[in-house]
Amino acid sequence: MTKVILFSATILLFFACNPGKPSEDAANKDENPVAAVADPTKGIGQIKNVNLHNPLELDRVNRGKAIYEMKCSACHKLTDQRVVGPGWLGVTKTRKPEWIMNMVLNIEVMLEQDPEAQKLLELCLTRMPNQNVSIGDARDILEFMRQNDGEQ
Ligand code: HEC
Repeated sequence: MTKVILFSATILLFFACNPGKPSEDAANKDENPVAAVADPTKGIGQIKNVNLHNPLELDRVNRGKAIYEMKCSACHKLTDQRVVGPGWLGVTKTRKPEWIMNMVLNIEVMLEQDPEAQKLLELCLTRMPNQNVSIGDARDILEFMRQNDGEQ
């Protein structure tokens, strides 16, 4: 009996939390809440699913580069050399796109709860400040990182 009640409650909860609200951003379009919870390599935050396109979207690359130069280059090089933060070379090969975007958009929580982010903090001994970029900006920066990693 308890099981039946619990089960119904779960179903109710599920529907209650999903009132078919419009997706907040194209980056989250194909979001699957169950898979997102189950995949810790995507980091913690609102970005659950990123669709990458080939070839690269060059307008995004250019915008991403401009944001990088303005807001990120003081701490991040495009080589593998660490300055304040890790160099970006290879980052799109070792990290999921979702993880990278959550790191940019949700740095406080990532540094508190994500094991990989915490390892970086131990290495760098500086907390990356929140850069106040939009989801769209973070997506553009990701595209620029892909180009930096040799994608076409
Ligand atoms: C004041 C220095 C600083 C600035 C500015 C900064 N970061 Fe960081 N970033 C760090 C540090 C330090 C880390 C390592 C984690 C930590 O210790 O907080 C990091 C880590 C990262 C990582 C993870 C890298 C990896 O190897 O996995 C990404 C991605 C990142 N930053 C993106 C950005 C973006 C995008 C911007 C600009 C919008 C930016 N950062 C601006 C200091 C900075």
